[in-house]
Amino acid sequence: MIEINQGEPEAPWYDEKGLGEEPVIHPSATVLRTRVGRWTSIAKGCEITDSDFLDYAYATPNVQIFNADIGKFCNIATNVRINPTNHPMWRATMHHFTYRSRCHHMGPDDEEIFEWRRKARVVIGPDVWIGHAAIIMSGVNIGTGSVVGSGAVVTKDVPPYSIVVGSPARVIKRRVDEETEAALMRVRWWDWTHEELTAAMADFRSMDASAFARAYDGAPRRVRAI
Ligand SMILES: CC(C)(COP(=O)(O)OP(=O)(O)OC[C@H]1O[C@@H](n2cnc3c(N)ncnc32)[C@H](O)[C@@H]1OP(=O)(O)O)[C@@H](O)C(=O)NCCC(=O)NCCS
Repeated sequence: MIEINQGEPEAPWYDEKGLGEEPVIHPSATVLRTRVGRWTSIAKGCEITDSDFLDYAYATPNVQIFNADIGKFCNIATNVRINPTNHPMWRATMHHFTYRSRCHHMGPDDEEIFEWRRKARVVIGPDVWIGHAAIIMSGVNIGTGSVVGSGAVVTKDVPPYSIVVGSPARVIKRRVDEETEAALMRVRWWDWTHEELTAAMADFRSMDASAFARAYDGAPRRVRAI
């Protein structure tokens, strides 16, 4: 047996510098026509196109996202695919030469197909955790605080604070009870400032979701400079 240590993996949470107001995007990732928020990271091999990727969201390696709103604090695991595009099954051929015609030297592209794809946007709420290699199909909405199990294929909307698994994905349980969900939706901690989040760190750590929601529901926002 020999000990092998190739050095730290390339991820901002292993790096002294960490994250910041500027998104951390691995040089091998491709991000196109996408707005990216603060405290975000996009790992190696990711491809993100025509999307919004909001504050604190992160994608680990090889995530593919097209035409989607990724909510704040979303946790996106390796090999997740969000909004795999559909092909025109009603045509004589589904091959892309009928719409990506320009690159085939067959005349202009067919914008209608791209417009049809754009209409089927995926919307993912804040604080959603998407497990390894899950696939989120076109036009699906995933509610705030939900969990998508590894390998799930999500074909229908997911209600807030639920846990879904399987293909097609089905709800197996709630993540929090209805009262806690309602309180968290009022608290909206995901809209807090960086300082407010930092000030509440001890409570995030020591309280479960229900106790946290009860403690902060209706309470004045406790802003504390750090
Ligand atoms: C979805 C998940 C969060 C559920 O965790 P849990 O609440 O502890 O659930 P349990 O392990 O008690 O499983 C509950 C049931 O769902 C099934 N199940 C759990 N995860 C599943 C999955 N990903 N796909 C299919 N079925 C799954 C279990 O077999 C069990 O079924 P049963 O009731 O028939 O026995 C977890 O299993 C999961 O998939 N985590 C994602 C991990 C991951 O991908 N991490 C990537 C790095 S961030």
